[in-house]
Amino acid sequence: MRLAGRLTADVLDMIGPHVQPGVSTDELDRICHDFIVNVQHAVPAPLNYRGFPKSICTSVNHVVCHGIPGDRILKNGDIVNVDITVIKDGFHGDSSRMFFVGKSTVQGERVVNTSREGLWKGIAQARPGNRLGDIGHAIQTFVEAQGLSVVREYCGHGIGRVFHEDPQVLHYGEPHTGPELRPGQTFTIEPMVNIGKRHVRLLADGWTVVTRDHSLSAQWEHTILITDNGCEVLTLGADEQR
Ligand code: MF3
Ligand code: CO
Ligand code: CO
Repeated sequence: MRLAGRLTADVLDMIGPHVQPGVSTDELDRICHDFIVNVQHAVPAPLNYRGFPKSICTSVNHVVCHGIPGDRILKNGDIVNVDITVIKDGFHGDSSRMFFVGKSTVQGERVVNTSREGLWKGIAQARPGNRLGDIGHAIQTFVEAQGLSVVREYCGHGIGRVFHEDPQVLHYGEPHTGPELRPGQTFTIEPMVNIGKRHVRLLADGWTVVTRDHSLSAQWEHTILITDNGCEVLTLGADEQR
């Protein structure tokens, strides 16, 4: 899981400089696919997963998650989530980050920063003895205090030899509720935060999730391991103090 996590972070570190005005999301998909397959000798988990047609997810502006790469050209001021899942030696690493395309906007920075800080509020609760509800509660409380909203329909998940397994890791909830955290568990935390209302809609392609009110949405995701005295973030990037 450590190796799979590191490779996942390496893909995000690699693709960052390619996220520029004028690039298509298909090009980002191709670059990541070729890096994972030819350089990392690993497998891009999304490709053909339950019929998903591409190797990565790219979710732009009001797209909440599971955006399908295509001929859309990124433009100055866009925000885009790149979600990478790598399988190495049978184990999965899963992480996503937000990128600003060209110059950032005030609204873009607000939703991007709030979702990243929300993720880290959740990570701070990840230790043995705490419960999953402590993680969700910390995220929800922080995000809502900023006046933004947390998407309820999608959640983090257990991960290992299987891409998505129990438990469901909700990004909202009540403290001291839910399953107790135990050393050795690996799961993701991946809050989706909307600048407007929390409600979402699934597009006709069966994958793309958008905000109902078309407000901007952002998401950050890490895969973590519960240790004896806290947790280890398995998908830290090079500039996140590995
Ligand atoms: N990587 C996403 C997650 O965080 C799942 C993408 S499933 C796909 O769980 F099929 F859309 F790739
Ligand atoms: Co995930
Ligand atoms: Co993911």
